Amino acid sequence: MNNILFICLGNICRSPLTEGFLRHHARLSHSADDFNIDSAGTGNWHSGKPPDKRAISVAADYGIDISALRARQITILDFDRFQHIIALDRENLIDLKRMSRDTSANCSLSLFSELIDNPGFVDVPDPWYGSYADFEAVSQQLDNACKALVEKFLRDD
Ligand code: 4NP
Repeated sequence: MNNILFICLGNICRSPLTEGFLRHHARLSHSADDFNIDSAGTGNWHSGKPPDKRAISVAADYGIDISALRARQITILDFDRFQHIIALDRENLIDLKRMSRDTSANCSLSLFSELIDNPGFVDVPDPWYGSYADFEAVSQQLDNACKALVEKFLRDD
């Protein structure tokens, strides 16, 4: 079982989309049972809220329903619950590394773009301040990247 937690800032745009795309590709590769996937934010501004409407809408274009997800802030307990905590940008990774000083859990902390070959980005671009086209662009990147990430986890198993 691959226990994976995706982290962004608000947990209403990038990480719920990533969670949805990873689940989608796990299902397409008939390996949904091999993955336990969740997402959270380093910030708490949107805790309890559904994903941004634009994120819900672009995911639906791929046949992915993320509307039932609710934002939450990462806690120190997540370092024990998850084997892989994956930051979507370098700022998120800095925050996670700072938090990890307070736990002896030995989960892996990584930057999403470093886990796959030729991702085409370093940080997953944050579409929050952008337009609908920015949500479409990041969805396309996440679609490709999550397909590659499922393949990597299945290969490494
Ligand atoms: P996310 O995008 O980290 O991809 O969920 C953001 C959502 C909200 C805020 C920033 C980024 N915010 O500042 O409220």
